[in-house]
Amino acid sequence: MRLAASPLTQIRSLEGPILVTGHTGFKGAWLGLLLDSLSIPYVGYSLKPEPGSLYERLGSEPSASEVFANILDLEILKEFISQHNVKAIIHMAAQPLVLTSYQEPLETFAVNALGTANILNAACHAPDVKAVLAVTTDKVYRNSNDGKDFKESDPLQGHDPYSASKVAAESAVDAWRKIVSQMGGPRILSVRAGNVIGGGDWSENRLIPDLVRGFSKSATVEIRSPGSTRPWQHVLDPLVGYLLALENALLGSDISSFNFGPSTPSLSVRTVTEIAKNTWPHNPKVEYFEKNDSLEAKTLGLDPSLANKELNWHANWSQEAAVTSSIEWWLKVLTEQTDPLMACKADIASVLQVEE
Ligand SMILES: NC(=O)c1ccc[n+]([C@@H]2O[C@H](COP(=O)([O-])OP(=O)(O)OC[C@H]3O[C@@H](n4cnc5c(N)ncnc54)[C@H](O)[C@@H]3O)[C@@H](O)[C@H]2O)c1
Repeated sequence: MRLAASPLTQIRSLEGPILVTGHTGFKGAWLGLLLDSLSIPYVGYSLKPEPGSLYERLGSEPSASEVFANILDLEILKEFISQHNVKAIIHMAAQPLVLTSYQEPLETFAVNALGTANILNAACHAPDVKAVLAVTTDKVYRNSNDGKDFKESDPLQGHDPYSASKVAAESAVDAWRKIVSQMGGPRILSVRAGNVIGGGDWSENRLIPDLVRGFSKSATVEIRSPGSTRPWQHVLDPLVGYLLALENALLGSDISSFNFGPSTPSLSVRTVTEIAKNTWPHNPKVEYFEKNDSLEAKTLGLDPSLANKELNWHANWSQEAAVTSSIEWWLKVLTEQTDPLMACKADIASVLQVEE
C-alpha cells in the first residue's frame, strides 16, 4: 500500500523525535499507535485527555514523552521543543468541532489560529526542526454547496467560526512560508482531510460517536441533516498521508498543501447511518430530522489527486468499509470486551500488512 512506495527513510533518519501536538485527541491517539508500530520516535504536547477518550481507553500506551500544556503558552512550547531535540512537527492540537465553535468562537480562534502561529514561530526559533505539517481541514474551502470536490488551489473561506479559524491557520502557514523563504527555516505545509471515523472517537456532535452512544443504550438516535454529504475516511488513511507528506517535505518538496480524501463521491449522513445501523445487531432505531439553520455546510468533497500523484497515496478503506470497520471496533470493545489497544492494533496491522 501507500507506505510501501516510501519506506519513510527521511523520517527514520531524523536524529530526534517528531513532535505531535494534539496527541491525546482522536487522531493523535491513533497517530501515536501508528508511529509506535513503525518504530518512529515521537513526543506529545496536548491538554489532558478527555474522559472516555480513546487516549484514556488505551491505558499506558502510546509510550511517548508528553506534556499536558496549552498550545498558547509559547514559552512552554519552545522549551519542550528544545528539551526533546524535536526534528519535525505534526500539529493537530485544535478545537475541532463546528457546533462548539459557535458557542466558543474566541477560544476556537485562539487555539486554532494563534496556536498554529505559535507552533510555526517556535519551529522557526528551533534550528533543528526540519519540517512542520499543520493539520487544517476540508472545511477551509469557499463552499457554495454545489457538490464540488475541492482542489488545493481553490479559494479558501470559512463560513462558520471553526472553518474561519482554520482558514486563519492556513494564513499563518502562508505567512511563515514567506518568512522562511526570506530568513530560512523548516519546510512548512498544510494538510486538509475530511471527516475521519474509526474506533474510539467519543466526541459530542459527531455522527459515529452519537450513533454508538445511542445504539449501545438501545435508545432512538436523532440524526440531523441526513442529506448532507461528507468525505468520510478511516482515520488511518489521512494519518498515513500525513507521514508521506512529511517525508516528501523532508526530501525537499516545497508543495504547500495536500488534500486527503476518498476516491469516490462523498456519502450522505443518511447512507452512513444506514450502514452503521445494518452493522449493529438488533435493528437499532434512528429518527432523521432536517435542520434549517445552515450552521454547517450541506455538501463537502475533496479531490485527493495531488496526493495520489505526488505521494502515491490512496485511501486504504472505502467510505463504506470505514463505517463498517468503525462500528465493528465499537462492537468488539463494548460487547466482546476486546481491549481497545488490541482493536486498534488489528486495524493498524491490516494497513501495515498490505504494504509488506
Ligand atoms: N476529526 C475529524 O473528522 C477532523 C476532520 C478534519 C480535520 N480535523 C483536524 O484534525 C485535528 C485533530 O482532530 P481530532 O478529531 O483528533 O480532535 P480531538 O478533539 O479529538 O483532539 C484535539 C486535540 O487537541 C488538543 N488541544 C485542544 N486545545 C488545546 C490547547 N489549547 N492546547 C494544547 N492542546 C490542545 C487536545 O488536548 C487534543 O489532544 C484537528 O486539528 C482538527 O481540526 C479533524
